[in-house]
This record gives sequence, structure tokens and C-alpha cells, in this order.
Amino acid sequence: MNFSKNISLKKLNTFGIKANCKLFTEIHSKSQIKHLIQTEEFKRNNYLILGGGSNILFTKDFNGLIIKNEIIGINILSENDHIKNVKVGAGVNWHKFVLWSIENGLSGIENLALIPGNIGASPIQNIGAYGVEVKDVIDKVWAINLKDGNEHIFTNLECKFKYRDSIFKNELKDKIMITHVSFNLSKTAIHNTSYGDINEELSRLGAERSTKNICNAVINIRKRKLPNPDEIGNSGSFFKNPVIKSSKFKKLQGLYPDIVGYKMSETDTKVAAGWLIDKCGWKGHRNNDAGVHKNQALVLVNYGEATGKEIILLAKKIQKSVKEKFDINIYPEVNIIG
Ligand code: FAD
Ligand code: EPU
Repeated sequence: MNFSKNISLKKLNTFGIKANCKLFTEIHSKSQIKHLIQTEEFKRNNYLILGGGSNILFTKDFNGLIIKNEIIGINILSENDHIKNVKVGAGVNWHKFVLWSIENGLSGIENLALIPGNIGASPIQNIGAYGVEVKDVIDKVWAINLKDGNEHIFTNLECKFKYRDSIFKNELKDKIMITHVSFNLSKTAIHNTSYGDINEELSRLGAERSTKNICNAVINIRKRKLPNPDEIGNSGSFFKNPVIKSSKFKKLQGLYPDIVGYKMSETDTKVAAGWLIDKCGWKGHRNNDAGVHKNQALVLVNYGEATGKEIILLAKKIQKSVKEKFDINIYPEVNIIG
């Protein structure tokens, strides 16, 4: 087992924040995890599991052990007339898996194209975009308990998936390492184009509703709306969209007829945090290298040398102004480390 010392994390987080860690190691198999947890380096230090680093904000150097999950492999476990059950290693890049599914004639995750990061993190916040959440296709999640090395296989139900939430963000936070996820992907194309932008983009492209074309439409929309982390540091949406009482939403609609919300149930409405932040005047704001993206107010950006602390300071100011203007609390989606 190799441990490197004092490693720079700047290229390992899409925010591009400068931070170092005391110790760093990579895991390529389940047996390596079981070995790792017996080592003094693991026992004596705080640890953090890292995937693609696209939902993490370092606010200072990490004075512990970073464990980068590099377990690879895509294997078909079973199939019937309608479905292929595919088990994927936690270290596989999410978008590469989306492309693999399309090349293999499978549908179900095309709407989730171009989401950065790896398979292992996909169940953690139940990644979602353009009308689909990964919980819709996850069959099981394989994980190793980092205390005793025992394996646990979680069924979809046991994962307690909700909007940007799961058991792994709550009861099991930092207690397990996900090694594999299995997905039920459809052999017959089942398309979800409920999100208006997709149909618009398909018509713009003059393209029929195929799995590949939906994937391409999503890629185009995302490239227009969201900053590319290779060019401007960011972690996607910094905050979650808040869920408020529908009665309160109706009152706000009276004051702001263009407010954007989605009905979640009879009583609850999810409000577009990007709209709230935009209405508070933050879009395009910049202070030194910490800013709010010019096309999407929900995305905080690092123009180069921003520190994690500067991003947090900006996030707090945004939370305060949204609370003052709308009496709504917004909470980070990004995992803040430090
Ligand atoms: P990391 O950032 O490395 O880790 C995230 C968390 O998961 C950390 O707490 C980490 O400790 C933990 N973790 C990672 N791997 C494991 C493992 N194997 N076992 C246990 N714990 C683990 N998200 C969406 O849902 N929808 C979007 O549309 C979307 N768009 C984005 C666009 C951009 C430009 C960016 C930068 C991000 C976007 N995100 C989006 C957020 C991000 O891509 C997802 O949250 C992604 O799943 C994070 O994966 P990762 O491998 O980078 O995780
Ligand atoms: N809006 C504004 N101003 C802004 C930003 C947005 O008015 O500055 C309005 C838009 O016009 C639109 C609404 O807010 O009417 C929603 O915006 P958008 O469609 O861009 O989606 P979002 O709610 O901001 C969510 C996810 C994204 C996901 C998209 C597409 C969350 C926290 N974010 O963003 O996920 O890609 O929908 O489905 O749920 C992420 O989690 O990192 C992420 C990027």
C-alpha cells in the first residue's frame, strides 16, 4: 500500500482550490480497502474519500488521508427481454458510463449526460438532471464498512433516496466506501423529455427523439448553461433548490409572478434557487477571484486563485440576502471540507 505525502489537491477538485493533503492513497479493489483499514496511516488520521472531486469545496489544507477510489470495470450481471443489469466500479467516470450505455443500445441515463464525477458518488446525492434522477435506475449499491471491513449490499429502497439526498449523506456519512453500483438499464428506449429544454433543443437540431439525440441535446444545453470546470473552477449548483410550503409559494407568486417553482406534492413546492439568487442581483458578481456565474446564479465560480474561505464568505452573503428578500433558507449542495 503506497502513501504519498503532502500532495496538491488543486487538480483533484473541479473548484480548482489550492489545498494540500497530509497523506494520499489510491484504492483499486475491495481487498485493498480491507488492507487499508488495518494500516497505521488509516487508523491514526482523519480520512476523506475522493471521487472526481466535482462536489467538494476545500476550505483549508486537509490534515489527514485522502483515499481516491479508482475501482474500475463495467459488467453485465443479468438480462431479460427488457432490461440489462449492469454493475460498475466506483472509479468509473459517470459520463463515460453514459456513453457506454448508449453505444450498447441501452436507455435510462441519457438525460444525465455530462454530469462530472464518478460512479461511486452518483448515489450519494442521488444525482439528477433534466427530469431524471439516478435513483430511477439504481438497482443496488455495494459498500465496505470502514470500521470492520464488512461488505453491505444496499437495495434501492435501503438507500433512502430523496431529492439530492440518500442514507450515504446522513446515517452513513464517512462510514462506508462505495465500491460498485448496479443499474437496471432498458433495452427498449424509454425516453423522458418532460424537461422543456430538451424538446426545444431536439427541434433546433432537427433531430428525432432517440436515446443518442437526447444525450446530445442534454450535452448542448449543459455546455451553454454551465461553466466548464476545465476553464472556470466550479462544483455545479452550489446550493440545493429549497422546498417550501405551496401556500408560501402562492404568496410569493403574488409578489413575483415570474418566480420559478415545481410542485413536489399537494403541500410542497421546490423553488429554483438560481432564480432567487438572480433576483437578489448576484448573477455575474465577482470579488477578487470568487464569483457567481454570469449565466447561472446557482453556480459559484473560482476565476483562478480564490480560496475556499472566500467562496464560503460569498455563499454566506448570498444565503443572507435570499433570507432577507424572500424569507427562504438555502443550503449548500456542495460538500464543504474543513
Ligand atoms: P466527489 O466530489 O469526489 O465526492 C462527493 C462526496 O461523495 C464526498 O463527500 C466524498 O467523500 C463522497 N464520495 C465520493 N466517492 C465515494 C465513494 N466511492 N464512497 C463513499 N463516498 C464517496 N450534480 C447533479 O446531481 N446534477 C447535475 O446536473 C450536476 N451538474 C454538475 C455540473 C458541473 C459543472 C459540476 C462541476 C458538478 C455538477 N454536479 C451535478 C455535481 C457533481 O458532479 C455530482 O455530485 C457528482 O456525483 C460528484 O461526483 P464526484 O466523483 O466528483 O464526487
Ligand atoms: N434561473 C434564473 N436565473 C438564474 C438561474 C436559473 O432565473 O441565474 C431560472 C431558470 O430560468 C429556470 C430555473 O431557474 O427557469 C431553473 O434553472 P435550471 O433549469 O438551470 O435548473 P436549476 O434548478 O438551477 C437544477 C439542478 C442542476 C441540473 C439542472 C437541470 C439542483 C440544485 N440543480 O438546476 O444540477 O443540472 O436542474 O436539471 O437541483 C448540480 O446539482 O450541481 C446541478 C448542476
